[in-house]
Amino acid sequence: MNHNLLNWIRGLVAGDRRIVGVLVAWPIWAVAQSDFQGATHMVPFEEDTISYNKTPSTGPIARLQTRMDRGEIKLKFDPQSGGWRDSLLEALGISPKSQTLVFSKTSLQRERIAPSTPRALFFNDEVYIGWIPGAPVLEISEVDAKLGGVFYTLEQADTARPKFVRNNQCLECHASAKTMGVPGHLIRSFKTDEQGIIDLITGVSEVNHRTLLEDRWGGWYVTGTHGKTTHRGNLVGKAAFQKAEEKPNYLGNLTSLKKLVDLEGYAAPHSDLVALMVLEHESHFHNFVTRLHYETQMAMSRYQHIRYLRSMAEGFLKYLLFIEETPLKSKIKGTSGFADYFAALGPQDRRGRSFRQFDLEARLFKYPCSFLIYSEAFDLLPKPMREHLLRRLHEILTGEDTSAEFAGLAPDSRRAILEILRETKTNLPDYWRAERVGGAP
Ligand code: HEC
Repeated sequence: MNHNLLNWIRGLVAGDRRIVGVLVAWPIWAVAQSDFQGATHMVPFEEDTISYNKTPSTGPIARLQTRMDRGEIKLKFDPQSGGWRDSLLEALGISPKSQTLVFSKTSLQRERIAPSTPRALFFNDEVYIGWIPGAPVLEISEVDAKLGGVFYTLEQADTARPKFVRNNQCLECHASAKTMGVPGHLIRSFKTDEQGIIDLITGVSEVNHRTLLEDRWGGWYVTGTHGKTTHRGNLVGKAAFQKAEEKPNYLGNLTSLKKLVDLEGYAAPHSDLVALMVLEHESHFHNFVTRLHYETQMAMSRYQHIRYLRSMAEGFLKYLLFIEETPLKSKIKGTSGFADYFAALGPQDRRGRSFRQFDLEARLFKYPCSFLIYSEAFDLLPKPMREHLLRRLHEILTGEDTSAEFAGLAPDSRRAILEILRETKTNLPDYWRAERVGGAP
């Protein structure tokens, strides 16, 4: 690679924030991981059919604001516990155990992010929160079932009427080829220098459950054990990466970050390995559902059918069923208790089985079907798409579908997923309830 070009890019990354937005969409070093042909094309979401900017959100943050305005809920500002941070987590039902820590310099407040002051991210099934020590605003992204990712800031100042302010400036980075061309979520893995400035030459700009663990967590802290498997977390600057090359798992398998960073004032001393893996599955899932939602709306308005979206829908089903998930090579264990917390959220069937139960030896989850199948975003997909997905899913799980694409899904997994869904998922079409002639596989 041309050295001048490299320096030019580094200068840009360190410099003008507007240009950084363009760089996040830079395609050259992206690891090819296509969900369907054209998955990275931008969708014209500001135009009439979607009308993203003009449509008010009705998502979880909008609903919380309404409850706050009516006086039904009052957030507490406490400088000791991160301003609004802990009170907001509680109001939204987000566990501090979900905390992960990222020190690469991105976001509108990137000058405040550094290896000594990482950004803490928290999440549940529909909201993500970013907190940086001393920063003027909390950064929030929510999943609106119709609009997809919607972005807000909450000013970190003690006022009687705290207000979530929708901020479309965030889309400079949060709507690009790396978010499937829709307003959405970003999780990346890049080497950084000692200050946390990323080196765009090596890395993955959209980490999800398919990404090799060896390529993950550049720019992140990671607490947890992972046996012989290596990763890029906890490594800051060239010298550290150099050492890791000589000594695999240098700064791997860490159960405490004490030696690396002072986390006084943070909600938790963890950047939990299992939380990271769930976050990475989830963020891409949300982008995918948003893309399906938009594309269905556009196809229906243009053609009154969704036949052209078949391959997109198949790609989504593959993601939903973890078909191309990267296999785990060693046992994974987190440190914050996130795994137990998350697994207990259910829903469970009568035999206690749930899509939130972990495997963590060969793969992430015990039953490879995303827990986000229960999410509002999935349930509120436009009807023709939702019906199509459920029909195909039923074909796959009953074994009626024998295509090579899903051949990797073992018969016992298919049966378990089918049984769990029948018992726990509401609003399934009637044909899901009846045992098919000939029975499940
Ligand atoms: C300069 C690019 C950039 C801008 C602008 C930006 N972000 Fe981000 N954001 C990122 C990147 C990259 C990540 C992934 C984590 C990382 O690598 O730091 C991220 C992650 C997040 C996350 C974690 C979950 C998710 O949705 O990806 C939240 C929440 C978030 N940003 C909120 C915001 C908000 C709110 C704004 C606007 C006020 C904003 N961001 C503006 C680059 C940006």
